[in-house]
Amino acid sequence: MSKQEIEEILAFYHNSSTQDLARRADTVCRMNYGNAVYLRGLIEFSNHCHSDCLYCGIRKSNDKVVRYRMSKEEILDAVRMGKDCGLKSFVLQSGEDSFYTCDLLCDIIQAIKEITQGQAAVTLSCGIRSKQQYAQWKAVGADRYLMRFETSDPDLHERLRHGISLKRRLQALEDLKECGYELGSGYMVGLPGETEEMRVNNALLCHKLQLDMVGIGPFIPNQDTPLAGQGGGSIEMTIRAVSLVRLLLPKANIPATTAAGSIDPQGREKILQAGANVLMPNITPVLQKKNYLLYPDKICLDEDGLKCLNCLKYRVLSINKSISLERGDSLGIGMKNGLCE
Ligand code: 5AD
Ligand code: FES
Repeated sequence: MSKQEIEEILAFYHNSSTQDLARRADTVCRMNYGNAVYLRGLIEFSNHCHSDCLYCGIRKSNDKVVRYRMSKEEILDAVRMGKDCGLKSFVLQSGEDSFYTCDLLCDIIQAIKEITQGQAAVTLSCGIRSKQQYAQWKAVGADRYLMRFETSDPDLHERLRHGISLKRRLQALEDLKECGYELGSGYMVGLPGETEEMRVNNALLCHKLQLDMVGIGPFIPNQDTPLAGQGGGSIEMTIRAVSLVRLLLPKANIPATTAAGSIDPQGREKILQAGANVLMPNITPVLQKKNYLLYPDKICLDEDGLKCLNCLKYRVLSINKSISLERGDSLGIGMKNGLCE
């Protein structure tokens, strides 16, 4: 994409109504993915976290959280259930929890590959680790890694992530790319102190990183964090952000996030009509998922994975799209070309 094309997209973004922006992003999305919506089974396997991000409900200073860790067998049971429903893509997400050593995660990745006869994609989302660990997980079969940069503004990043620099986060993304992962990142919209300029820069950073996957959700203030009582992101802001990223990265896999579905009952449908092509049903066992509360009023806490899958099928049909049970690998070229200036 040339500089001029990017300028043209930004001008369109600034001068268009949300409806027109979403319509154009939807057209671009359908050109690449047709009506397909890919599914990723999300397993939130630990809510222990040694980080203390100001926005996050499972930050280490929140002593109201009932902490849990799923055993290898519990994780594999969730995968088996997902596999029986036809899922071919699993996301293992946790807080930053060193209880899961490099070897333990290697073990779990290998077992998932065995259970799914090598047919399923394994995505990790467990925070910053060493490059060596990313490489070992890749060597035993991990395919993808998700790590949002959260905000592209260095000062805001450092403030909200309790001293961790944006530079360190971007280094981790670079390490992951060099290890050969399909790379996902993204950000929240509506963080306290965020400006429209920062939101545009967030989208431009996704383009610069040539991401294969981009997760964008509204910030939802959590009452048990230092950001209690602050305003959150709106569905409109989220739609505009997703649409802009779809125009800048026509081939990226972009989920309609649970956070978007949590601030608006039709949130995920709206985002799927504004450039998104992925849903992430939460297949964490019901007993545990109610304790993975990054933000309040999270949806699907009482529903098991099967119920969510059925629900999503109808939601997707209602907007003239349909669920695809394919792996939904990246169509992007990011990994091969490296950073884009
Ligand atoms: N509101 C919305 N999203 C949040 N996340 C963390 N805390 C919140 C919150 N209060 C997002 C972050 C993180 C992802 C797993 O969840 O972007 O990367
Ligand atoms: Fe979980 Fe609708 S997606 S109940």
